[in-house]
Amino acid sequence: MNNDTSHTLARKQHHAAITGVAGYVPPYILTNEELGTMVDTNDEWIKSRTGISERHIQKGVGLATSDMAVEAVKLLLKKTNTNAHDIDLLICATVTPDMTFPATANIICDKVGIRGIASFDIAAACSGFLYALTTAMQFVENGAARRAIVVGADKMSSIVNYEDRTTCVLFGDGAGAVLVEATTDGTGIIDSILRSDGAGRHSLNMPAGGSQKPPSHATIAAKEHFVYQDGQTVYKFAVRGMADVAAEILERNQLTGNDIAWLVPHQANKRIIDATANRMGLPSEKVMLNIQKYGNTTAATIPLCLWEWEQQLKKHDKIVLAAFGGGFTWGAMYIQWSYNTPMPQTEKIANNALELVEAV
Ligand code: UT7
Repeated sequence: MNNDTSHTLARKQHHAAITGVAGYVPPYILTNEELGTMVDTNDEWIKSRTGISERHIQKGVGLATSDMAVEAVKLLLKKTNTNAHDIDLLICATVTPDMTFPATANIICDKVGIRGIASFDIAAACSGFLYALTTAMQFVENGAARRAIVVGADKMSSIVNYEDRTTCVLFGDGAGAVLVEATTDGTGIIDSILRSDGAGRHSLNMPAGGSQKPPSHATIAAKEHFVYQDGQTVYKFAVRGMADVAAEILERNQLTGNDIAWLVPHQANKRIIDATANRMGLPSEKVMLNIQKYGNTTAATIPLCLWEWEQQLKKHDKIVLAAFGGGFTWGAMYIQWSYNTPMPQTEKIANNALELVEAV
């Protein structure tokens, strides 16, 4: 986490590792074409500048970030055969909490039926998942937690101004969750670099609703409860920040692009992702990309990628997670993947059938 690598790179007895992943996106799909009926934009502009074709939006009165997170957590528990009562830490990374307080993590636990454990939110915008995973890593590695869940979830549609074409085309809603446990086989989270620069707050923020500018008729009239972004400034810092930190984590672990099986980047803009991959010397086939389907789901982008690519991840694969976002915050994590995913039953049956046919 710090610049002194002697501590972070010391050989550990055991590592915290991701041992399961799950995700959820709400069913409603908002296409570029539909956005073109709402603001002065078009499919060609959005695709060429960002790589986004569509995004999922949570519709329904009273539905919130926690409801998407709950779907992801329930699926995670089911997939990993884990009893909710065996979870002893839940961290939710989000900038769109259900309420200012209590923490969305508390609400998720209640809705899933987990009580009496440590649960809290982390607000580090698009880098939130990396901050939350690094925090969970510390709890698991020092023995304070045995099984932690880290959720990245955001209902960006609740803070996006659908009259502002410069931001409304970018964001979507979604949630991803991972299970974190200790491993002793050398796999797991090997290294993490987290950075921030609060001067970046002027370029990406939600101006009102906090203690500086509590909600008022004036703040609502001025549309200050929506995302404000100076896109070009954020773009410049994002390209440099994400590429630099990804290169740095390779260098301090004596790795090159050839060693890396996958880059799992925050999905804000395909051009930022391409720049990061180039800097790492990675071909596009090694980059997880789902921005075209989901847009920027803030804290959910990275776990949603892991969820979608889980079948292709193999034990011992070396992967790099990288993100840049509001704060500014940015960071990278180096992970050696800890498990092979069994094929879904349908595929297994199909393969068995094929083997039988071949045997005959
Ligand atoms: O995840 C959090 C971190 N966020 C990011 O990483 C986002 C970083 N920024 C970006 O990805 C890019 O800056 C954007 C995708 C937001 C914008 O792309 P850009 O290439 O930087 O465009 P621009 O802001 O320089 O705007 C170029 C033109 C402008 O028109 P003029 O002034 O040249 O006439 C904009 O008004 O494109 C116009 N424009 C649009 N046109 C059609 C802006 N938004 C739109 C739109 N449709 N949706």
